[in-house]
Amino acid sequence: MANPHSDRPPLRLGILLSGRGSNFLAIAESIRCGRLAGVEIAIVISNVAGAAGLAAGRDLGMATALHISKGRSRDTHDADVLACLREHRVDLICLAGYMRLLSPAFVAAFPDRILNIHPSLLPAFPGLEAQEQAFAYGVKIAGCTVHFVDDELDHGAIILQRAIPVLESDDTHSLAERILAEEHIAYTEAVRMVASGEYEIRGRRFVKRNT
Ligand code: GAR
Repeated sequence: MANPHSDRPPLRLGILLSGRGSNFLAIAESIRCGRLAGVEIAIVISNVAGAAGLAAGRDLGMATALHISKGRSRDTHDADVLACLREHRVDLICLAGYMRLLSPAFVAAFPDRILNIHPSLLPAFPGLEAQEQAFAYGVKIAGCTVHFVDDELDHGAIILQRAIPVLESDDTHSLAERILAEEHIAYTEAVRMVASGEYEIRGRRFVKRNT
């Protein structure tokens, strides 16, 4: 959907996912209902054949592509995905449960133009099963992080974080569910901030302009 307040063409998102796709669907819904203006989803790409998120994108009538990563070298696979993103004239990439490391060449092709969401308050608990790691560690505050992607895992400059208390009644499942609800809010907000262009990255710090 074009931004009614801007003459700029919509920013074209490329969504990369490997599974359920709830973060992708949250972004899609934000665009549909006007919470996220000036942005459109150009392509949804998955590296996993049975990814529910890919089927959901197809059902919504979006352009989708499957590039199976299993059994292929990272460089070869990433080159195919990059070509697909370019073919669809993608401006900004959102990793939405994309469970695969990007090659340095991929990251260099979209400098500060790749976002990732991670279900912990980074730098705590990078990697897999972050919610389980946080619960087992016994943290009292958990949450999620949206950050730019760099060459290290779950590492680039942080755009925003949302925190929640860990409740005495929580188990790993309930904690993960409550973090996920925050992720869905956070990703829309982060895309809006990046799409606005009204920010600077100072070292590792994402700073809104005029603040
Ligand atoms: C989300 O919790 C996301 O933060 C996590 O995978 C899940 C995908 O869910 N990503 C990572 O752990 C990346 N390090 P979704 O497919 O429903 O969006």
